[in-house]
Amino acid sequence: MKSNSKQDLSLDLKTLPCHVGIIMDGNGRWAKKRLMNRVKGHEKGTQTVRSIVTACTELGIGILTLYAFSTENWARPKHEVKALMMLLKKFIVSEREEFLTNNIRVNVIGQKHKLPLDVQAEVNTTMDMTRSNDRLLLNLALSYGSREEITNAVTQIVEKIASNELDVRDITQDLISDHLYTRSMPDPDLIIRTSGEYRLSNFLLWQAAYSEIYISNTLWPDFSKEEFIEILKNFQARDRRFGKVKCNTSNGG
Ligand code: IPE
Ligand code: IPE
Ligand code: MG
Repeated sequence: MKSNSKQDLSLDLKTLPCHVGIIMDGNGRWAKKRLMNRVKGHEKGTQTVRSIVTACTELGIGILTLYAFSTENWARPKHEVKALMMLLKKFIVSEREEFLTNNIRVNVIGQKHKLPLDVQAEVNTTMDMTRSNDRLLLNLALSYGSREEITNAVTQIVEKIASNELDVRDITQDLISDHLYTRSMPDPDLIIRTSGEYRLSNFLLWQAAYSEIYISNTLWPDFSKEEFIEILKNFQARDRRFGKVKCNTSNGG
């Protein structure tokens, strides 16, 4: 029987993506469909975060980067921004036990200094408490925007050149990567976006150069561990060529 894809097979735990990024989109539409306030969608979305973080620890995925709040999201109505910050604070505090029990390290990428001071304080506490954990690195992208990240990297590099710490000839792709919020992390192998939009919305633009992209029509609050596993299987069935030509012994290539 001709197998049309590896998706018929079970998940291979040895070839999981090292780094998964998720653009968690669709909370507002989930709430709207139920004639509820958008904030209810964000609340429900937090439960999905919990289940996907647990799934990643169980499966053995090393890095999960969750796009939780973009630099552009500050332009949303004040009450929605306030509710999102409150939910974030609640999450970062209520999950501490879970992070410690499951050996999860929490890190923030983005303009942490722009978050309300009380949120910053709780985020810092959770980051400090989980600093030595090494099962899953949970990167929360908060007030994150890729263009801001790259602009910030350019500024840092130029300052180092101006103070003779670096020379113009030192500028390489690795040097630029080392000045991003994701320094010392591998690029995401897989980026998932929920709610059916075909765009990156300023998420990991530099790092996504060779990421596999998967768009799910599911709204984030409805996203499940089962669908996540199906997406991982889909990822495993893909042929990542990185611009090269695959060797094929039959044609001498
Ligand atoms: C994603 O859901 C959460 C954030 C961007 C903070 P949205 O709030 O964007 O939901 P939709 O896209 O309006 O449905
Ligand atoms: C992307 O979703 C940002 C996050 C998921 C945090 P948005 O809802 O903000 O993106 P657009 O506006 O649809 O591009
Ligand atoms: Mg959205």
